[in-house]
Amino acid sequence: MSVDLRTRVDSEQDPVEAGPFFRETLPALLDAHRAFIAPAAGALPLADFCIETDGEPWTLSYHADRVSVKPGHHGESRVRLSAEQLGEIVNDQSTPVALMSNKLLDMPEGGLPDFLNWWLVLRAALDGRRIYARGDVSFADEPRRSFRPEDSDEDMRAFLEESGYLHIQGLFSEEEMEAVEADFPKAAPHFEKGDPRAWFAKTQDGVEQLVRMEGFERYSEATVDLIDDERFRRIGNIPGIGHVQVRKPGARVGALTKPIGVVKGISDVPWHKDCSLGRHSYECCSLTVGISVTGADADSGQLRVVPGTHRALVWPAPCVQPGLDLAPVDLPTEVGDVTVHLSCTLHTSQPPVSRTRKVLYTGFGQRAVDPEAAEINRQRLQAVRSKTHTSVSQEPGYLGD
Ligand SMILES: [Fe+2]
Repeated sequence: MSVDLRTRVDSEQDPVEAGPFFRETLPALLDAHRAFIAPAAGALPLADFCIETDGEPWTLSYHADRVSVKPGHHGESRVRLSAEQLGEIVNDQSTPVALMSNKLLDMPEGGLPDFLNWWLVLRAALDGRRIYARGDVSFADEPRRSFRPEDSDEDMRAFLEESGYLHIQGLFSEEEMEAVEADFPKAAPHFEKGDPRAWFAKTQDGVEQLVRMEGFERYSEATVDLIDDERFRRIGNIPGIGHVQVRKPGARVGALTKPIGVVKGISDVPWHKDCSLGRHSYECCSLTVGISVTGADADSGQLRVVPGTHRALVWPAPCVQPGLDLAPVDLPTEVGDVTVHLSCTLHTSQPPVSRTRKVLYTGFGQRAVDPEAAEINRQRLQAVRSKTHTSVSQEPGYLGD
């Protein structure tokens, strides 16, 4: 079971025109992929849904195991898109979550859940991928396990493929983590408000706190030593499909501090897949690696994941899809542990309530078939991502499931 789930290439995108798309292309694909839609659709609330593109309305309806597409506005929920936004969603360069995150979601009736339910149908039709139905994902082994560095790559690969994450204990030493932690205050003065590489969040006392420093390795030799070290590079080889460090020099590592009591700005990200803003079918699965500079548990900002969700077409954010029969697990870590999750594995960081947390995030990606075309679209998505931290963060103690 490979974790290479890519089905698209950036240079092979077709332009999308609303009229021909809703009249011909989409109905044909809905029919061709009916078997990917029907098993789950019965359990989804799929009230009629209108997509209005530059003023041109088309309504999607689900009835008697079939989706029909009709001109006009007949539904109780409606999204208004520009032609460009429709094209980006069809080509999987954007998602309803990306629109919401950038405050561009324009729904005069209904809301994000309506759009997300229909987005599952669109993805099934456009990508030939089955919408997750209860019972589709099962596990040969218990989906909660921790590894030690001496465990084999083969064991880790098998677990990663099945469960979508790894917890490797004690990969780095306490001394190495102390050296990294000492660089946090040295790096901080280089990150100012307004810099897209710097994320700030406001805490209950009204103070703006620096919570994320992108490109932290520029100010931390100790961090460069870690990510160039064979112990770290090994992680990219675990899936066995040629993952490489795709992040650019100067932007390889994000250093996060998780304060208690954030009331504005994203510090603790709600449930999401890393592909929730788009590009799943071009990039997934990439690997995100978290290095625990300080330990983390239920009171101090631990990561939580829903094992198996990388194998499931479900809501990619902002919560665990209602009715999902896959259960979250907690990933408490000690100093020097690492967590690895696939970009398609649903995950969240739990807001700290008793102790703050420091963690480095970096990772590995797959080489693009057409690197130049991929880079242009990655940059565009990066611009979307860099604005998401201005949205509201979770309440302290939020679990979202
Ligand atoms: Fe994430």
